[in-house]
Amino acid sequence: EQISGTRPGFHECDLRDGNRLNGIFDQEQPSGVIHFAGLKAVGESVDDPLLYFDNNVSGTVTLLRAMERADCRSIVFSSSATVYGMPEIVPIAETAPTDAINPYGRTKLMVEEMLEDVVASGAPWRCLNLRYFNPVGAHNSGLIGEDPRGIPANLFPFVAQVAVGRREELLVFGDDYDTHDGTGVRDYIHVEDLAAGHVAALDHIFSLPEDTPHLDAVNLGTGRGYSVLEVIEAFRQASGRAIPYRIVDRRPGDAAASYADTTKAQRVLGWSATHDLTDMCRDHWAWQSNNPKGYDG
Ligand code: UFG
Repeated sequence: EQISGTRPGFHECDLRDGNRLNGIFDQEQPSGVIHFAGLKAVGESVDDPLLYFDNNVSGTVTLLRAMERADCRSIVFSSSATVYGMPEIVPIAETAPTDAINPYGRTKLMVEEMLEDVVASGAPWRCLNLRYFNPVGAHNSGLIGEDPRGIPANLFPFVAQVAVGRREELLVFGDDYDTHDGTGVRDYIHVEDLAAGHVAALDHIFSLPEDTPHLDAVNLGTGRGYSVLEVIEAFRQASGRAIPYRIVDRRPGDAAASYADTTKAQRVLGWSATHDLTDMCRDHWAWQSNNPKGYDG
């Protein structure tokens, strides 16, 4: 609300509201869309799959219809490394097999497949699926950060809430994986690098011929994997706070290691991540320590 009050051209809209969406396209006449709108909690998607299919899949159908009507056929979609399911080979290249292992992942894969079909229809769509690895960190001003509702499902927000004293200890989900210290390895990427990747993606599709259907998928990651214990140590150093933790059983559905092959992003988009784990922890901590109880605190 604060933003919509101060920024011309800002509209709040339920993506499933086709009439309203048409009105916004008529008014703004955008030349392209970056489609971020979607739910993203794996556990919630298992408990309430229809909520995910409705928001993430139906919402996208409505958006694509509105785009088609407005003759706006350039789209960058927030996909996810989740489309690789349980990866057998790391680093993961875009050519790796895809699979969905939960409803959330299925919605990402379904939208990718929907875009494939739309492009195959021959209409001049230019589509780019960005497969995010693990976005973390915060804006370097310390003003904009991730404030999950309820108990954080993801590692970084959980670690940050332990560091700030809002939670007692972190549970580390398994130390018997086939990784260098036994804990899960992930490719964490700073949200500012992720944002820059989107700008590069939009520039790229706008540079392609307007009358030729095009679809591609590109990983957004750093190409480096860090274990849970390495993240805890980096965050301890960045925050100067103790981060008590306890090893517990594995979380069902977790892969041992997932990190990106980033060569395609470099080649196609001319983009690569510039922030390292220290930057991610520093900026995430700046936001969390400015907002110890989140935005509502
Ligand atoms: N972990 C813990 N304790 C926690 C939370 C996480 O030990 O409290 C571990 C996990 O087992 C994993 C690592 O920290 O090894 C990262 O876990 P996250 O939940 O932060 O991230 P995931 O890799 O499981 O999930 C992310 C996105 C999903 C996406 C998935 C696959 O959050 O949306 O990557 O791409 F589906």
